[in-house]
Amino acid sequence: MQRSDNAQITRLEDYTPTPFAAQRVEMVFRLFSDRTEVETTTILERRAGIDAAEPLRLAGDEIAPVRVAVDGAAVRPEAMVVDENGLTLSDLPASGSFALTIGTILEPARNTKLMGLYRSNGIWCTQCEAEGFRRITYFLDRPDVLATYLVRIEADRDTAPVLLSNGNLVDSGDLGGGRHYAVWDDPFPKPSYLFALVAGALDELADSFTTASGRHVKLGIFTERGQSDGAIYAMDALKRSMAWDERRFGREYDLDVFNIVAISDFNMGAMENKGLNVFNHKYVLLDPDTATDGDYAGVETVIAHEYFHNWTGNRITCRDWFQLCLKEGLTVFRDQEFSADERSAPVKRIASVRGLKAHQFPEDQGPLQHPVRPSQYREISNFYTATIYDKGAELVRMIETILGRERFRAGMDLYFERHDGDAATIEDFIRCFEEAGDIDLSQFSRWYFQAGTPTLSVTQDYDAGAGRLTLRLAQALAPGAAGTPILPFHIPVRFGLVGSNGQDMEARPAAGAPVERDVIHLREPEAEIVFEGLAERPYVSVLRDFSAPVTLKDDQTPADRLALARLDPNPFNRWRALSDLVGATLVRAASDARRGSEPEVDPAVVEALVSSADDEGLDAALRAQMLSLPSESDIARLIGEDVDPVAIHRGREAVFVAVGAKGAQRFAALGDRLATAASFSPDAASAGRRALANALLDYRAAAAGEPDLASRQYERATNMTDRLAALAVLAHRFPGTPASEAALAAFYRRYETNALVIDKWFALQATTPREDALEVVKSLADHPKFRLANPNRARSLVGSFAAGNQLAFNRADGAGYRFVAEMIHSIDRLNPQIAARIATAFRSWRSFDAKRRGQAHEALAELAARPDLSPDLRDIVDRSLG
Ligand code: PHE
Ligand code: ZN
Repeated sequence: MQRSDNAQITRLEDYTPTPFAAQRVEMVFRLFSDRTEVETTTILERRAGIDAAEPLRLAGDEIAPVRVAVDGAAVRPEAMVVDENGLTLSDLPASGSFALTIGTILEPARNTKLMGLYRSNGIWCTQCEAEGFRRITYFLDRPDVLATYLVRIEADRDTAPVLLSNGNLVDSGDLGGGRHYAVWDDPFPKPSYLFALVAGALDELADSFTTASGRHVKLGIFTERGQSDGAIYAMDALKRSMAWDERRFGREYDLDVFNIVAISDFNMGAMENKGLNVFNHKYVLLDPDTATDGDYAGVETVIAHEYFHNWTGNRITCRDWFQLCLKEGLTVFRDQEFSADERSAPVKRIASVRGLKAHQFPEDQGPLQHPVRPSQYREISNFYTATIYDKGAELVRMIETILGRERFRAGMDLYFERHDGDAATIEDFIRCFEEAGDIDLSQFSRWYFQAGTPTLSVTQDYDAGAGRLTLRLAQALAPGAAGTPILPFHIPVRFGLVGSNGQDMEARPAAGAPVERDVIHLREPEAEIVFEGLAERPYVSVLRDFSAPVTLKDDQTPADRLALARLDPNPFNRWRALSDLVGATLVRAASDARRGSEPEVDPAVVEALVSSADDEGLDAALRAQMLSLPSESDIARLIGEDVDPVAIHRGREAVFVAVGAKGAQRFAALGDRLATAASFSPDAASAGRRALANALLDYRAAAAGEPDLASRQYERATNMTDRLAALAVLAHRFPGTPASEAALAAFYRRYETNALVIDKWFALQATTPREDALEVVKSLADHPKFRLANPNRARSLVGSFAAGNQLAFNRADGAGYRFVAEMIHSIDRLNPQIAARIATAFRSWRSFDAKRRGQAHEALAELAARPDLSPDLRDIVDRSLG
């Protein structure tokens, strides 16, 4: 394996505060069409006890200083060293504060990395997390250096009528010669990664919000010209988020303005810059004709997430990037709770858990594994992962499960009170819950430091004569899962004992059993828990609401699962009982297909799926979840090793057809009833009905074996959800047919000028489950609308293909791997972060059969052998091979 010699590793154990503190930053940006002049003055002070000879090291990346002065006097060349990592200044005042002024000149139009200051469709904008500020000026660019900022922006009024930065607008005016200026003052000390500037010809959707204590806040969502109507739903979601955070966590907004800007070239989803959130326009712009229900839910979640960061991230930030989950895991937990309250809690929980298993589990079980709080990294931008975000959120959720809702809230209150204004650590966070909850969480905190997905086994034994149930629980972490010693976790197992009447029975645990309310606290490697006084054998429902991020192994019979799928009063576990059965069925079908025999599908499972569609006692959205089969990569994860994606696909199709055939009449009747909806509304109940109807469409089309039904829905659709669902059925089930080709062409013509919809058009074709989809993807890479430099477009074609097309990406001839590796290499020259992100699709390469493993290894090794990889991409490729 190749590792570059200059691989710089940053280690948690090396943390020390900076020798200098920054208090105040004043910046002037002069924007011109070909360049931007930046002048930054920072008030700095040597910290007490720091030697007078200690130099000041400032980070810088792809910039050069045009002027460096201390208290107005130019710094002598001997007192200054510039290299590719930054600027070192010696000979600084031994005590007291001093003003350091640095001039830089930037060329934002040439910045394709989209970190620092860049231009997107002519708009100037910044992205500074994690280490982008150093691409604007030399700075103590780390999260524990907090300062207040005053920012003056000057630009042509024509090209940039709107000038925005963090905080409150304190001055603006004319400069003559067609130029104007604005001055923004942010009174809240913040780290540089929360800095933002936006300038350009933008439209504003304006609104306002009055906080619980009566503060009037101006709200603005800025979009490219002519698009502000698309932000109406986002604005509504913002106001609901603000009200929710007051209700649920007692958190009010703190500035006079809150602005959001929608940008079309953006590396991530969105960014929580103080008072000026910058968003990928995908998470702002919506209307029924162009956005699906999934898009509406995504906008609502991301708007909430970034808003919630104002307290969890901004008012309390991270001491260093090892603490990233302190803000991200917590904020994901908060946005999940918001969505659960605004929509349906069980449906939201099912969607989150499906996401966790699809993205975080493979990461935690492969070469890119890392703890929720890592102890080292080479490239921090590669650590914005499902583990930090989604497993991080699970850990917060477990704290709530262990403490109960009230004590959890008390811990959060203490955290806000004690750490407001701090750059905090995970230890600080946990201590608040220990104190407020009067509990020792030291064993629990291993979840932050030990990587890997533990397995939880639960077996049961019922003694009818004694009316006694014995549960045996055991936990294990896969060997070799982490470099650190593996110690038992504190696993909260929420449970219920379900009677044949569908109600939880009174569970009387034996004295001294580690059971509190409906939670078993497993702290040992193994435990035996005895329940007495049970008049009948209960159905054991464990890990309700997925109370811990583990792989559950139990000894339930298929009959038990079928019963729980019908009876469990916990809707999440009803879904899981069915989903476990369906998963086992799909694994068996894949193994049948691999042996070359016709996959056998258990009729009882088929009937359970079919009848779940008709269960009027359940939300439509929940029924849609029950009907939505595990994806091909979910099945690959269940199989675990020596995976053959072709067999998985064949087996899954056989199940699909069996369910579609068995349900034909009931699905048709139900589908027709659901189709008679009135005008479009994005609310959860209406979205649930569309989800169910579209799930049925897919089964019906599979069983019918012809595209008419989908073609008809495509033509009649009055919203994007129904239109795209029909198009997916046509393109995925009937690729190359006249019906499919006609619909794809019509869709393209209709939406040619809408970038977000054209992304869907690319993604849909990239994910056609056929090995020859590769040829289509290759020709789409030459399509005039394909742009490697636009992250959304690159992700829509290359990212969707690599992560969402099991069959074609993992072609046995290796052509899928080679194509993706080449594309990644091209993207890397423009935008290393996007290249590195797409490259994570290789993370499960070792789980495939020998032939595919060999091909993937070869493609990765070839990529690794290239001398010109960015540090970002090299980090992912090396770890994937390692
Ligand atoms: N901090 C952002 C969020 O989760 C994500 C992000 C990271 C955006 C890095 C840009 C760059 O809300
Ligand atoms: Zn975040």
